[in-house]
Amino acid sequence: MTPRTEIDKDALDQYLQRVTGGIAAGLNCAISSLGDQLGLFQALHDLRIASSQELADHTGLNERWLREWLRHQACMQQIEYDPEADRFYLSPEAVAVMLDTQHPAYFGGGFESATVSFNSLPGLVDSFRSGLGFTYDDHGPGCASGIERMSRYFNEHALVPKVLPLLDGVVEKLQRGARVADVGCGAGVATLAMAETFPESEFIGYDISEHALTRARNHLGTVDVPNLRFVNPLDEMMPAEPTFDLITTFDVIHDAAHPQPLLNAIFQALKEDGTFLCEDIRSFPSFQRNLEEHPLAGLLYGFSIMVCMSSSLSTADGAGLGTLGFNEEVAREMTGKAGFGRFRRLDFDNPMNNYYEVRK
Ligand SMILES: C[S@@+](CC[C@H](N)C(=O)[O-])C[C@H]1O[C@@H](n2cnc3c(N)ncnc32)[C@H](O)[C@@H]1O
Repeated sequence: MTPRTEIDKDALDQYLQRVTGGIAAGLNCAISSLGDQLGLFQALHDLRIASSQELADHTGLNERWLREWLRHQACMQQIEYDPEADRFYLSPEAVAVMLDTQHPAYFGGGFESATVSFNSLPGLVDSFRSGLGFTYDDHGPGCASGIERMSRYFNEHALVPKVLPLLDGVVEKLQRGARVADVGCGAGVATLAMAETFPESEFIGYDISEHALTRARNHLGTVDVPNLRFVNPLDEMMPAEPTFDLITTFDVIHDAAHPQPLLNAIFQALKEDGTFLCEDIRSFPSFQRNLEEHPLAGLLYGFSIMVCMSSSLSTADGAGLGTLGFNEEVAREMTGKAGFGRFRRLDFDNPMNNYYEVRK
């Protein structure tokens, strides 16, 4: 088709609206992240309904800054405004998404993950020339923290009760005593939830991010879970012989610089009758379908450039799969190439991720 060259007045208005909305969203990211860091959503929830002065009295923060923050958040429809009382409050939906870690819609940490990735903005200019991206740790400690919070609901509340029972015979093995590796464990929330539930089994969480490992070890320090340890595979590689009954990856393969060698290593480390549980981002095999049908495509391509593809390109020979690059089709092909013979998508509905049971 030939691209249009004449300006259409309506299309121009709509385009401008999208651009100003996008700029507002960028500013909102930073401003909501400030509210998150300062505990303003929680403080407002604690007060139930408050004026800027009441919020200032409660938090000890400056009233003028809080007034502008509250007004901004109301305009962005993230908090509610009662004009008669001239006071602000959180809707139950805002509480679920921003504050309630036990709610499936909880997405706290999203603003933190996005804003810490802005630190790499100056360097990304060079990435477009050199091809080289940034590791997770290059973004600083906030990246591991934001990701931990974004994935917390699933890892803490859904994995053990809802997903593990969908795997053939795995819960019974874990109850009897099995060996488990959680590869790319991040802050270790999923590994900890499994290790606490199955004390007869032994767990190792592997991650190459020292910031994530520090968070994981700190969490472990607060509980009595002797059947779990966290290691950096650069210090202690995953065994090259069949060792584990269960290996898990939760949103890791698309981030890995060398996903095929990682899948090969998982195949080698898994026992003959073992199970590989792989969670990865839900996407379509073609860009056109992602563009037209994926409700989260803009968000996910955004995270890809700032974090995931960047991580996968953080070495010169990185694969650069991208956040939407390890879809079911690719997962089938690459696990097959690693040697796996069986592949089943689990019947668990999640708008962000798919879950695969992969076996030899
Ligand atoms: C999106 S985070 C997911 C963390 C955690 N699984 C969760 O669900 O919260 C991806 C993690 O994979 C780790 N990672 C990437 N490549 C890895 C590799 N080759 N071996 C171990 N960890 C890796 C990163 O350091 C990062 O912590």
